[in-house]
Amino acid sequence: MQELLTFVLILSISSTCLCRGLVEDTSGGFNVLDYGAVGDGQTDDSQAFLKAWTALCQTKGTPQLIVPSGKKFLLMPVMFQGPCQSNSVQVQILGTILAPSSMDGWTNCSTNCWLRFSGVSNLIVNGSGTIDGRGSTWWNQVYTDQALQFNYCNNLQLSGLTHLNSPRNHISLTACNGASLSSLHISAPASSPNTDGIDISSSTNITIHDSNIATGDDCIAINGNSTHIYITGINCGPGHGISVGSLGRDGAHETVEYVYVQHCTFTQTQNGARIKTWRSSAVQVSNVTYMDINGTSGNQQGIIFNCDQEVCTNIIMDHINIRSSNGGNVSATCKNVKGQSSCTTPEVPCLSSNNINDDCDNQKRHIFAPTNYLH
Ligand SMILES: *[C@@H]1O[C@H](CO)[C@@H](O)[C@H](O)[C@H]1NC(C)=O
Ligand SMILES: *[C@@H]1O[C@H](CO)[C@@H](O)[C@H](O)[C@H]1NC(C)=O
Ligand SMILES: *[C@@H]1O[C@H](CO)[C@@H](O)[C@H](O)[C@H]1NC(C)=O
Ligand SMILES: *[C@@H]1O[C@H](CO)[C@@H](O)[C@H](O)[C@H]1NC(C)=O
Ligand SMILES: *[C@@H]1O[C@H](CO)[C@@H](O)[C@H](O)[C@H]1NC(C)=O
Ligand SMILES: *[C@@H]1O[C@H](CO)[C@@H](O)[C@H](O)[C@H]1NC(C)=O
Ligand SMILES: *[C@@H]1O[C@H](CO)[C@@H](O)[C@H](O)[C@H]1NC(C)=O
Repeated sequence: MQELLTFVLILSISSTCLCRGLVEDTSGGFNVLDYGAVGDGQTDDSQAFLKAWTALCQTKGTPQLIVPSGKKFLLMPVMFQGPCQSNSVQVQILGTILAPSSMDGWTNCSTNCWLRFSGVSNLIVNGSGTIDGRGSTWWNQVYTDQALQFNYCNNLQLSGLTHLNSPRNHISLTACNGASLSSLHISAPASSPNTDGIDISSSTNITIHDSNIATGDDCIAINGNSTHIYITGINCGPGHGISVGSLGRDGAHETVEYVYVQHCTFTQTQNGARIKTWRSSAVQVSNVTYMDINGTSGNQQGIIFNCDQEVCTNIIMDHINIRSSNGGNVSATCKNVKGQSSCTTPEVPCLSSNNINDDCDNQKRHIFAPTNYLH
């Protein structure tokens, strides 16, 4: 199955650093090798990284943590805690950071290991390096951990890195306000379970662009209490596509609003753009626009709306063309959905059709979505 989809989705569903003394930044660079890291892929370099981080965190100016190229640094679960003294902190990763090779190395982690940045504002993490979660021993386990996490990180910039084989989610953002993630390469075998590319929870104003994500699970998952999420230029697949949810587990009150996904390509994905909810009375889905989606489906059902009661409202589809990848027929299934469609193949029976003059070849839009999706 190959799907080439370009679309706009407009969705509306209803700590402390132990910093003593203040050091002026003279060198700017805190190279982990200067703090005892070995970088042979065998020695545990966690303490060296933490020492370098502590020194950097006490420094004013624009200090940089440097993870040099040509070396492999083995790290146990570590937390890089903020706030730091400087307004902005940079972590430059040029070499490879390796997770423990077996599960024993993770025994000391309490929750949500492995690499966590917490409470660090204006953090920049970039470089051409690799973060290798070596997660394969975890993929048959029930409980697994995430690789790289950012909690309470305002104005985070993450770019350029390669993220491999996480035990679970590769990158998680929780309670972050303002973040830009770009030029990332995230990959794990198609068969690896629960290895989402990027997970977002309780965060606002997050931009993810121009990245390749091929992990077998959700390329990007947008979870509860997240708003203003801008996703463009993602090559997604193999995997499950870009997903909102699952929302409303155990009747939880959660909202996800203002999600914009555009100029994305889905290749060999189980879904394209998906909204998942638990079957609980709390969940309402409304004001979702799918526009300019072109591609093929290997499944006979190319479009599925499956809503409990009449909770999916104002769903709009415009200029959608989904064909079969294997010469069969593609249909839409529909339950409890209200909205409009225009120039949509296959026809979605529960949406009222709004084909003005049946002229679907030109780019003229029959249904106008809000135009303020670019920020
Ligand atoms: C859906 O859009 C309509 C019209 O713009 C707006 O009045 C309504 O509040 C929106 N619904 C939600 C749940 O945001
Ligand atoms: C776990 O923590 C204990 C106590 O801090 C330490 O002695 C041990 O080396 C740690 N184990 C690993 C695998 O990091
Ligand atoms: C990392 O980001 C900083 C600040 O935006 C920039 O000056 C630097 O060139 C970047 N480094 C790499 C390797 O992308
Ligand atoms: C959103 O975040 C970006 C940084 O990624 C920041 O420059 C911008 O001001 C933020 N916008 C709002 C409305 O907070
Ligand atoms: C979302 O916010 C609601 C209300 O503030 C809160 O009860 C709920 O726990 C939050 N959910 C998540 C996933 O943070
Ligand atoms: C849809 O994709 C097909 C195959 O890639 C291409 O031939 C066609 O021009 C596309 N249609 C639109 C409207 O982009
Ligand atoms: C596709 O649908 C048409 C019209 O309903 C039907 O005649 C044809 O047999 C179907 N083809 C397949 C492969 O199911």
